Amino acid sequence: MVLSAIAASEREEVPSPEALRTFLGTIPSPAAIATARNERGEKAGVTISSFTAVSLQPPIVAWCLRSSSYSRVLFEEASIFAFNFLSDQQEALCRHFAQVRSADKFEGVLWQPGEYGAPVLSNCAAIMVCEKVDQQFIGDHVMFFGEAKSIRRTIQNGLVVIGPRLTSTLQLADVVRQQRGGL
Ligand SMILES: Cc1cc2nc3c(=O)[nH]c(=O)nc-3n(C[C@H](O)[C@H](O)[C@H](O)COP(=O)(O)O)c2cc1C
Repeated sequence: MVLSAIAASEREEVPSPEALRTFLGTIPSPAAIATARNERGEKAGVTISSFTAVSLQPPIVAWCLRSSSYSRVLFEEASIFAFNFLSDQQEALCRHFAQVRSADKFEGVLWQPGEYGAPVLSNCAAIMVCEKVDQQFIGDHVMFFGEAKSIRRTIQNGLVVIGPRLTSTLQLADVVRQQRGGL
């Protein structure tokens, strides 16, 4: 019933990588920095948009990291990780943790150790700290599952990823409308 409501021209049974990228580019996701610290005190931080909710009871969430990522080993070693959900004032920080290749991406970045030890970045829209419960290789990514240990929100507007664009939760409706105009 639901499927028949979708026009045949909008359906593609086995999407090509290009079609999949275009399709995913129309679905907004939160921009966050996943952070962790290992027992030697070394820190990792990576810009991600792959955060997803998994279960409410117990409270499980997940995210995916490319297996070729420089930070992968540290996230595999760490038992705690944090999601630093960015505000719409933190676009530069979003790009910083996606682009900087140096061993310490935290140089010049305001942060503090969270209650479970993972680095927590200052001025974020929301923070979630998790205890890692599982990690699995899937395709060319590692998927990390975490049980939420603490959550904190502010009243700031969030930063959202939609295709190649970063936008504010405030402007999201306009961006989606523009995209639909181009369909
Ligand atoms: C908006 C945005 C979202 C991203 N989402 C992810 C993601 O979910 N998983 C991932 O592995 N890389 C993601 N990336 C790419 C990583 O941030 C980038 O490859 C980073 O340099 C990896 O860090 P590392 O190689 O120093 O560990 C994203 C980049 C941007 C700009």
